[in-house]
Amino acid sequence: MPYAHITGWGVSIPEPVLTNEDIAKMVDTNDEWIRERTGIRERHIAREDQFTSTLAVEAAIKALQVANLAPTELDLIIVTSSSPEYIFPATACLVQDQIGATKAGAFDLLAACSGFIYATNMAAQSIRSGSIKNALVIGSETLSRFTNWKDRSTCILFGDGAGAFVLQASERPGGVLSAVMHSDGSGADSLTLLGGGARHPATELTIHEGKHFVQMDGKAVFRFATRVMGTATKEALERAGMKLEEVDLIIPHQANYRIIETAAKYLKLPLDKFMINVDRYGNTSTASIPIATVEAFEKGRIKSGSKVVFVGFGAGLTWGALVAEWSGPIPTKKHVHPEQYRLFARLRSLVRRALRFIEGLFSRREL
Ligand SMILES: CC(C)(COP(=O)(O)OP(=O)(O)OC[C@H]1O[C@@H](n2cnc3c(N)ncnc32)[C@H](O)[C@@H]1OP(=O)(O)O)[C@@H](O)C(=O)NCCC(=O)NCCS
Repeated sequence: MPYAHITGWGVSIPEPVLTNEDIAKMVDTNDEWIRERTGIRERHIAREDQFTSTLAVEAAIKALQVANLAPTELDLIIVTSSSPEYIFPATACLVQDQIGATKAGAFDLLAACSGFIYATNMAAQSIRSGSIKNALVIGSETLSRFTNWKDRSTCILFGDGAGAFVLQASERPGGVLSAVMHSDGSGADSLTLLGGGARHPATELTIHEGKHFVQMDGKAVFRFATRVMGTATKEALERAGMKLEEVDLIIPHQANYRIIETAAKYLKLPLDKFMINVDRYGNTSTASIPIATVEAFEKGRIKSGSKVVFVGFGAGLTWGALVAEWSGPIPTKKHVHPEQYRLFARLRSLVRRALRFIEGLFSRREL
């Protein structure tokens, strides 16, 4: 049975920064309150011309560069997002088209902020089953578009960004060792974005009622998050046959510093066992774990052979954890330049659109 290794990683962070002081000019809040309650100092906000797929594609190309893998070799693309570009088509298909992943299946996965754990596990299991060899998993968010900038209880929390992993099959033991995924829909009301779906299609009324914005019972989410972070970590480690002492780094979903602190206390681990960068990005939902991972790697906190736990929670309610042995790129002599495929992808997309148009002109209506 092949192992599923994490062989590539990349991020895309929009340049514009929104500080706590900037938010204090919009709503009745202040830097001290936000830092004390959440640990957040600033977050990045996508420019008007940056979309969920734009950030996803940038992160994907970087991850493919690290993996030294051509987009045409991908079998599967999973995009997980709490702010997908559309209800449909899937953002994953937009990415597939833009990077030129000619033979990949592509779909979106919705598990809110736990999405990256769910998606990485789905990709890993597809590789472990032998049905595919190369997968791309992306968490990408432009949650600022669904943020009510007049609601001080939510607008301080979220940020935009994307992160991606490439997963590849190899006979060498390691890679994704175990995962757990959980849900509890009885808590669905705690964190919602109700407008624009089939129950509340967009109307003047839904807009008037602010249903197109994130709504949250902060205290309920906080209580739930602090409960599940530690238990999911322990459960995933047990499945991997590992002890907590063997873990080199825990990379939690970056929602709130105090939630991570409480999880550390529950697990009786020092905080330096956790990768924390919520102060500079806020909560980037599905992107927070890969963004934190890439920073951990760049700071030398993850090396080849490191044992890492990823753990997350989010709307749904959903939560999960995944244990991996960090492997790095699979050694090869070939040198691939994934970014060069983008021109080819654009041309291919244009030709296919033109052919589809011509086909429409000449095809006879079936009676
Ligand atoms: C949102 C959160 C920071 C609020 O912190 P809290 O300590 O629970 O604060 P409360 O909601 O109880 O509010 C306490 C007071 O601060 C006020 N307040 C809320 N937001 C504020 C803000 N941005 N600035 C200043 N005061 C604020 C409230 O109105 C309340 O005032 P009151 O006591 O006069 O009624 C916290 O609940 C949280 O982080 N929850 C988890 C959210 C999360 O992680 N969501 C994503 C999950 S993926």
